[in-house]
Amino acid sequence: MKSSFSGFYKLSPQERLAAVVKETGISEEDAKKIAEPSLPVELADKMVENVIGTYTLPMGVALNFIINGKDVIIPMVTEEPSVIAAASNSAKMARMTGGFTTSFTGPIMIAQVQIVDVPAPEFAKSAILQHKEDIRKICNDKDPVLVKFGGGFHDLDVRIIETKAGTMVILHLLVNVGDAMGANAVNSMAEAVAPYVEQITGGKVYLRILSNLATYRLARASAVYKKESLSKTGDPVEGAQIVDKILEAYAFAAADPYRAATHNKGIMNGITAAVIATGNDTRAIESGAHSYAAIKGRYTSLTVWEKDANGDLVGTIEVPMAVGLVGGATKTHPGAQAAVKILGVKTAAELAQIYAAVGLAQNLAAIKALATEGIQRGHMKLHARTVAASVGAEGEVLEEIVKTMIRDKNVNAVYAKELMEKFS
Ligand code: MEV
Repeated sequence: MKSSFSGFYKLSPQERLAAVVKETGISEEDAKKIAEPSLPVELADKMVENVIGTYTLPMGVALNFIINGKDVIIPMVTEEPSVIAAASNSAKMARMTGGFTTSFTGPIMIAQVQIVDVPAPEFAKSAILQHKEDIRKICNDKDPVLVKFGGGFHDLDVRIIETKAGTMVILHLLVNVGDAMGANAVNSMAEAVAPYVEQITGGKVYLRILSNLATYRLARASAVYKKESLSKTGDPVEGAQIVDKILEAYAFAAADPYRAATHNKGIMNGITAAVIATGNDTRAIESGAHSYAAIKGRYTSLTVWEKDANGDLVGTIEVPMAVGLVGGATKTHPGAQAAVKILGVKTAAELAQIYAAVGLAQNLAAIKALATEGIQRGHMKLHARTVAASVGAEGEVLEEIVKTMIRDKNVNAVYAKELMEKFS
């Protein structure tokens, strides 16, 4: 299967979908779930409350991705222009060195159990640690299906924290949630262990809920961008200058939380768009990413960019990735089901690693643009296409209108209409 097509953007949406169907081998039935508004209101009514209708957004595909030696076509859902083009562009540059290499720590989710009014916190901590096997049993009895599929209680950790309301003992249940996002599984386990934990600590349990700071569920991706791949003309000298400019841009984000917030927002432009396409919980991913970016006590960049011995640019990302393939909207939303088929993933671990690669690619595209020509030029071109399409322009006429509006630095619907009359 290939993920690289020439002139893909020139095709109609129907032709693009046909190309994706041909390449990925997804069924016509799945393709229909994307081509037609995919969420029936009757289904929507079962998903959330007080439903009055549905709301749709564009789905596109990021192209050119090679991840661990395999081509992947990545569905993305977003309202923001440039995101999908930027990810595809960046992935194209990374192809020269074989694309992205990824890894995953495993699907271990944390559930927190807050224990307050504990008479002797250190003693309580020991008691919890000593009763680990009892806690394991209570957790696993709560979800025998998860255990059957190789998941379940993995380990526990106990922290003592000082708060405005006094000392608290915080129990972390570490649970292997397999291919699920895992919220339901771990929350149920946290609730199930509460009475026993009160009994052995002499304290009172209040909150029992997962942590989105999923530090045992990290996805990592890395890529090498040859310096010449960063230059439009393939010039290694210009490429080397771009590498240095990108390193300056990265250093800025690494040092300054104000810049890091925007730098990471750019990363999440890609990750969130890909995550929503498969019906996963975008807020969980955003929360995990931003809290992880601050884990060392100061908010910083989620990516790291360096220069290797050849002077090429090397990038890495490490980000919590609590995504699943079973349950929730991923299973029920027709568009999400089709997106999973396009990706061709069989496990949530594969999915998590694809998302990390998307984040890294998206970041490179943004900081390269910012460090060189700025992002407005690219944005303007895409904006001009939207404006031209909004007055009914198509094909060559559309291209001509876009070119003229950009040349004249006059991108608006009135001018587009005028040009439409002139060119058609
Ligand atoms: C815009 O949505 C995202 C960027 O601002 C990201 C960045 O500044 O790195 C371009």
